[in-house]
Amino acid sequence: MNLEVIILAAGKGTRMRSKLPKVLHTIAGKPMLLHVIDTTQALTPRATHIVVGHAAEQVQQSVSHLQVNCLVQQEQLGTGHAVGVAAAHVDKNAIVLVMYGDVPLIPQELMTSLVNKAAQQQLALLTVSLESAHGYGRIVRDKQGTICAIVEQKDATFAQQSIKEINTGIMAMPAHLLQQWLPRLQPNNAQKELYLTDIVAMAVADGVSVDYCQPLHAEQAQGVNDALQLVALERWYQQHQARALMAQGLRLADDKRLDIRGHLSIGQDVYIDINCVFEGDVVLEDDVTIAPNCHIKNSHIGAGTTIKSNSVLEGAVMGAQCEVGPFARLRPGSTLADQTKVGNFVETKKASIGTGSKVNHFTYLGDTNVGQGVNIGAGTITCNYDGINKHTTTIEDGVFIGSNTSLVAPVTIGKQATVGAGSTIVKDVPENGLAVARGQQNNIQGWKKPVKKGS
Ligand code: UD1
Ligand code: CA
Repeated sequence: MNLEVIILAAGKGTRMRSKLPKVLHTIAGKPMLLHVIDTTQALTPRATHIVVGHAAEQVQQSVSHLQVNCLVQQEQLGTGHAVGVAAAHVDKNAIVLVMYGDVPLIPQELMTSLVNKAAQQQLALLTVSLESAHGYGRIVRDKQGTICAIVEQKDATFAQQSIKEINTGIMAMPAHLLQQWLPRLQPNNAQKELYLTDIVAMAVADGVSVDYCQPLHAEQAQGVNDALQLVALERWYQQHQARALMAQGLRLADDKRLDIRGHLSIGQDVYIDINCVFEGDVVLEDDVTIAPNCHIKNSHIGAGTTIKSNSVLEGAVMGAQCEVGPFARLRPGSTLADQTKVGNFVETKKASIGTGSKVNHFTYLGDTNVGQGVNIGAGTITCNYDGINKHTTTIEDGVFIGSNTSLVAPVTIGKQATVGAGSTIVKDVPENGLAVARGQQNNIQGWKKPVKKGS
């Protein structure tokens, strides 16, 4: 289909009381405008026009990586004027879908049904019935129930104010009709604006039928005007995602205390305790358990692995049956083979850890390759940075590193070698060797303790 999308994003969003333009405020970690663009892109439109105005440059910047066409509305003279800025650039044979940049959660299926209705030479509106419809444009229907107009709150009669069905603002229509209607709009209303909604009465007058769709959940068509509406929508969306995953078998300690800012994919019998945040792309394979307060970003966690509480993982890949945390921090490039253990207050970065190896307490491994069956003692530090460059530490299979060891990279600890506790290792250690690099202990027998002067 020859579809073109117009997204209105020129408004100021005064009630957000923020320096950030409203449409760049996020839901689930993604700017609202990008939610709208992403869902409309799934309909593969021929063109996407974004009408920007307030903080135009910042909004344009945020979409500069996308195939969209930004048009500046110099003055915000109303929704009809805003659509007019873009409509001039739309092919007359196209179907137009009008979206708002601050209505982020419209499902793709709803857009598709609106567009399909418009393709039958109709005007198609997305409406919803709300308990408190105050402030919205009301859908006026005749005695037969046919839509005949939209009346804004400020222009509504007392009787019209009791109508619960409202205009979400989202609509679709054939471009040639829109292009005929827009020049006929007049600012004859309480706000002296050009109202896009006035095209409904024009359609009726021109004998064009007006059809409508409604969302399954009112939140899907909810716009955001202030911080309270933003958080309400965020909470609804998070719970909606949680429920979708529970339908796939995810078990949660609390469906209200899970935040997914990206995509979480789960295997069977995954359990997530309270207050966990997942960002970017995260995969949890079968039987993974995540304890409370974990923050996990762009990571892959193998089957049967347990992430204990308060762990922070980013760009980490874990095999099966690993144990991580509590209080572990895995930074990008951390790769754990099967059955590894990374315990409390351990930080890893660009570190691969072989099967069955253990790094249990207070350790930093950066730019490090650890073999299989290695035991790294408490307080081991890889000194990977000389102030200018990063260097690699290699710890081969079966090595035992005693506690409180510094490994000054580049350095290699050969297979099965042992490093004595408290060592500062600056030279390679041969296979099966023992390296001890610390001050000798002197015991002085009968040592007389100093006495306090004057006593
Ligand atoms: C509009 C609708 C109303 C509907 C409500 C749903 C009209 C006249 N009214 O009212 O029927 O119930 O949305 O939220 O259409 N915008 C521009 N340029 C402008 C004006 C607006 O880009 O000159 C954009 C805004 O950034 C926003 C959207 O259009 O994304 C809606 O504008 P807003 O001022 O919020 O419209 P409402 O008065 O709330
Ligand atoms: Ca609004």
